[in-house]
Amino acid sequence: MKITKLLLASHNKNKLAELKNMLKPYQVEVVSAVELNLPDVEETGETFEDNARLKAETLAKMSGFYCLADDSGLCVNCLGGKPGVFSARYAPNRDFDKGMDMLLAEIENSVSDDRSAYFCCVLALANPNGKTQFFEGRVNGKIARQKSGKGGFGYDPIFIPEGYDKSFAELGAEEKNRISHRGQALQKFVKACFS
Ligand code: IMP
Repeated sequence: MKITKLLLASHNKNKLAELKNMLKPYQVEVVSAVELNLPDVEETGETFEDNARLKAETLAKMSGFYCLADDSGLCVNCLGGKPGVFSARYAPNRDFDKGMDMLLAEIENSVSDDRSAYFCCVLALANPNGKTQFFEGRVNGKIARQKSGKGGFGYDPIFIPEGYDKSFAELGAEEKNRISHRGQALQKFVKACFS
């Protein structure tokens, strides 16, 4: 499959920046839904895969381009995988500073002292004339007791990846992208489409 132009089905500027940065080395023109004035597709699915498919297929049909959609989130084991697919909506008005405080409080109040968690990312690649393919990435880690670091976005200041003693927000973009759920999913996509 030869993809020369790729539409990113997201309005999240942080996700777009990470994906665009990771796609720089490849011979593909990357445009976003924002640049093409395409809508932000409502996430009505129950799984990361459902939502990624919905976003990718809707915008591939509307635009006629190959379309890559990311659905991702943070799953905390002692909270039964919450906030998971609701990670964006868990934070009131997308205020992740508040969202992180709420999550830290929920974990403190839970009966378990297990702070293990993981980030999951499903990328869906929709062909405007054909089928959709999926690429998944996951990074295990734990939830810190407090926020630290200024980099990244969303829940990065409270997530410490396995094997590190720093949060995603303290690691720097290059290191985060190398190990992150999104980085891993994107490497699988790149291998399937550009090698
Ligand atoms: P959605 O895929 O648009 O539903 O949004 C996923 C949400 O999960 C984001 O708004 C963030 O809150 C969170 N999330 C996903 N990936 C990351 C990440 O790499 N760092 C921090 N938070 C993330």
